[in-house]
Amino acid sequence: MLTLTLNGQPRRLDNIPAQATALSVLRDRLATCGTKEGCASGDCGACTIAIGTRDDRGEMHYHSANACILPAHQLHGCHVLTVEGLSRNDELHPVQQAMVDHHASQCGFCTPGIVMSLFCLEHQRRQQGLDTPPNDDTIDAALGGNLCRCTGYRAIRDAARAMHTLPGPAADDGGRLIATRSDGEGFYRPENRQELITLLSQHPQARLIAGGTDLMLEHTLALKPLPELIDLSSVAELGHIKEDDRGWWIGAGVTYHQLTPLLAEHYPAFHALLERLGSQQIRHRATLAGNLANASPIGDTPPILLALGARLRINGISGAREVSIDDFFTGYRRTALTEGEYLDAIYLPRLQGGEQLLAWKLSKRREDDISAVMLALRVTVADDGQLRDVRLACGGMAATSQRAPHVEAALEGQVFDGDVLANACKAIAEDFSPINDVRASREYRLAAAAGLLTRAYHRLARRHEAIPMTLEEI
Ligand SMILES: Cc1cc2nc3c(=O)[nH]c(=O)nc-3n(C[C@H](O)[C@H](O)[C@H](O)COP(=O)(O)OP(=O)(O)OC[C@H]3O[C@@H](n4cnc5c(N)ncnc54)[C@H](O)[C@@H]3O)c2cc1C
Ligand code: FES
Ligand code: FES
Repeated sequence: MLTLTLNGQPRRLDNIPAQATALSVLRDRLATCGTKEGCASGDCGACTIAIGTRDDRGEMHYHSANACILPAHQLHGCHVLTVEGLSRNDELHPVQQAMVDHHASQCGFCTPGIVMSLFCLEHQRRQQGLDTPPNDDTIDAALGGNLCRCTGYRAIRDAARAMHTLPGPAADDGGRLIATRSDGEGFYRPENRQELITLLSQHPQARLIAGGTDLMLEHTLALKPLPELIDLSSVAELGHIKEDDRGWWIGAGVTYHQLTPLLAEHYPAFHALLERLGSQQIRHRATLAGNLANASPIGDTPPILLALGARLRINGISGAREVSIDDFFTGYRRTALTEGEYLDAIYLPRLQGGEQLLAWKLSKRREDDISAVMLALRVTVADDGQLRDVRLACGGMAATSQRAPHVEAALEGQVFDGDVLANACKAIAEDFSPINDVRASREYRLAAAAGLLTRAYHRLARRHEAIPMTLEEI
């Protein structure tokens, strides 16, 4: 049984298949058809809903998510707000009123999703006591996952700037949320590691799901059945970040959103890149572990973790083990995980002394687009100007994200001058033989990797200055 609160009303639903999306349940079972389906792949934002959970003090927090790729069972125990839940007695919510006042809707197909994204932004800002208009970066970040093809964003941004000034009813706060166990119908929600391992042995054919932002597309786009799913997001031990004196263990259930403060403080380049990974809707649900286990050659985080020298804790029916990230990717979309195993946590080593991390992603669109080429570099520039402990990795250049041993050798121990740069650029073709595909040609990829290396050269020429990378640079 799936139990949730929808727009303030408790709902209980039976016979929801494991693979059912939140969108299909909202539209087909609960008749809340304001939430639209545009792409069924997390790209357009027409299906955006607000998901509310209470913190330890009982305060409700909402985050936006794409209902089209969200497994319905992950809504269990949550307060779900859709566009139908915002107005009261025919009085529009301030976000809706601002959209009307600023003529921010034309055909209206994207509008419910845009309203829900702005609702989440406005709710957070009111909770923080902010009564100034959000700035352009904040608005763009909130709307990065919402496409509007006819109104134009000027009017929508005007509405976003005005919404805080308007009176209007607060959205229903969901009351007391129901939180019983929700196992059944092939969607298993283990609450701890032991239950997870038991389920892995009982259901060897079940697929693991964390945020579902890759996996659910197998169902919504490739139309594959996913009859049995084991949900990692419900496992308490996987939801933590644990710090020791050398770095941080990131649990496999930690979302990008939860990871953001740590990255912002300790890995500015990784943080800047994360702002461009998918959209807010995606980052609210998706995990670092899912990105690694998915093993896409154009995933954003593998090159960074390769450059950092991350370690991975794998756990499962036969016990726990640790592997280096260098040994994790074994081929195109293949990893060192064997049957009955799962990725439990990822260790991010703290940058030591003069170590610097640089990373750049090239993609056709700034927001919500996967990369054509990625380059990440961790290096120390010694006092004598020599590059030390070079670890450099690329994405989009081979069947897996991969380190570049010849480029590393061309840089190691050298003072980074024009000749060293030229040698390192030449070495790229020794390390990689990229393919042509829809994102980029082989020639473009090779030239782009050399271009990114040249960026690193210019950046490190300002050595001794640990300047955090900014969004404008990537
Ligand atoms: C619109 C959109 C935009 C996107 N943009 C980007 C982007 O810019 N950059 C990028 O890199 N990716 C992007 N992605 C892909 C996706 O969001 C990421 O790969 C994300 O990190 C996947 O995490 P998840 O928790 O959602 O994984 P899930 O979808 O839950 O799982 C992915 C795969 O890993 C397996 N898995 C998950 N967790 C574990 C675990 N702990 N142990 C073992 N196996 C596991 C699952 O079985 C599945 O096969 C995008 C996706 C969408 C839909
Ligand atoms: S329908 Fe397009 S993001 Fe969900
Ligand atoms: S109003 Fe038509 S797509 Fe946005």
